[in-house]
Amino acid sequence: MKFSFGRSHAAEAIIVPIFQETTILPVQEVSLKAHAGNRGTITWSYGRNGEHHLLFVGLGSMNTFELECLREAAGNAVRAAECEELMHVEVHLSNLVAETISSMETSTAIAAWIEGWLLGAYTFDKFKSIKTKRFIETVAIDLVDNEENRNAAVLGEIRAEGIRFARDLGNEPANHMRPSNLAESVLQRFAETQVGVKLYKGEELERNQMCGLINVGRGSEHPPVLIEMRYCTDPALELIALVGKGITFDTGGISLKRDHDISDMRIDMGGAAAVIGAMDILARSNAQANVVAIVPAAENMPDGRAMVPGDVLEYPNGVSVQVGNTDSEGRLVLADGLIHAHRLGATEVVDMATLTYSCQGAIGSKYAGIWGHESTVSTIRSLGSTSGEKVWELPLVDEYDDYLSSIYADVCNISSAGEAGAITAALFLRNFVHPSLRWAHIDMAAMKDASSTKGYVPAGATGYGARLLSEFVTVRADKRTI
Ligand code: BES
Ligand code: ZN
Ligand code: ZN
Repeated sequence: MKFSFGRSHAAEAIIVPIFQETTILPVQEVSLKAHAGNRGTITWSYGRNGEHHLLFVGLGSMNTFELECLREAAGNAVRAAECEELMHVEVHLSNLVAETISSMETSTAIAAWIEGWLLGAYTFDKFKSIKTKRFIETVAIDLVDNEENRNAAVLGEIRAEGIRFARDLGNEPANHMRPSNLAESVLQRFAETQVGVKLYKGEELERNQMCGLINVGRGSEHPPVLIEMRYCTDPALELIALVGKGITFDTGGISLKRDHDISDMRIDMGGAAAVIGAMDILARSNAQANVVAIVPAAENMPDGRAMVPGDVLEYPNGVSVQVGNTDSEGRLVLADGLIHAHRLGATEVVDMATLTYSCQGAIGSKYAGIWGHESTVSTIRSLGSTSGEKVWELPLVDEYDDYLSSIYADVCNISSAGEAGAITAALFLRNFVHPSLRWAHIDMAAMKDASSTKGYVPAGATGYGARLLSEFVTVRADKRTI
């Protein structure tokens, strides 16, 4: 798919995003139903005798407009155009930019449209014998062809590419995505880029006392691995670490899950996909950064050798953990990642994980939960509102620390109270964050996948977090130099 600026002579259809309040249409003869501007609505007006068609895509009200509306509209538009088997389209963004000029930069609108377009067109048909047919070849945007606009288009494409890669990783079924496959995908993706990849396996895990990974991975035939990815363009910048939970399948282990359908546990590496996608975006956009991504990857399986409830793990930071439930495996491997981040010299760390059901119970599936250091959290919150990957802050309630007490270890990996499950998970992680670090924890369990196709998110893995984390690192590089 090729994006360009200016008008297109080849266009078979013109795509026009409209607000509920839009009255002036590009073609006078067309009259639209009152609801055509509603968010998510698409309306075709077919051209006669070879004239081009018009596709109106609703953005909702001007008063509630945000970039997310544009991404959604682009996602809906691309699928509608593909359905009609169109090859060349033109998009009218100029009116929109003029109408919302105070709240939106042209380049931001371009990047958001392209992101939504490429993400809305995403399919995962690798295992289907009949592949999705692709039609669209060119997309012309009716804005001036200058360097700024072209750069915005490239940025939109790079971001979408990183998110599409994160979705691919998430969508792979567990029999094709063992810890070693995840490591191999990373090695392949970053070969010949500025990202250096290091893998820790077997002996190296022992040497580094990564007891969470070793024990969670014990019950699986497919051994655990810790994947470290480093991207540094400027060593004078403080080192930021991104830690992503990489459980390639979570059966619960000996504390086996009892739900009817646990097939979505193949995406229990959604946090890993997000940090890998973020590194991809940073490297491809030649961002200024000093960042290390850490992915503890394991498969959580029951077996004769598996970790059992009651086991005690001793972490190298001096904290001992009683395993109350082997299904609380995410926090055990994240602990290794957080300790490793400090060992590598990071000063700020963000972990992202499909950690608890409780987080969805608390805030639903439109927001991920975030906890931690004030400045880290507030930066991520504000980025989330523009990137569309929203987070909502929850408290680290010191009084609930007692819920994690254990009779014979320093802490237990499950709470003894039937409340605040997402908060106690965050409190557990806090035990492994060196006091000198600024830290934020993001629980994205509810965001990892979509059950139906809508806007720019087709059913399946969402790739949530890649954009948010890459933007966080970019913002930090601008602001903080030692
Ligand atoms: N991977 C799950 C959490 C999860 C649930 C992610 C649904 C995505 C969607 C995690 O390892 C888990 O099992 N958490 C348990 C912890 C409990 C045993 C304390 C939970 O949240 O119930
Ligand atoms: Zn689990
Ligand atoms: Zn899990």
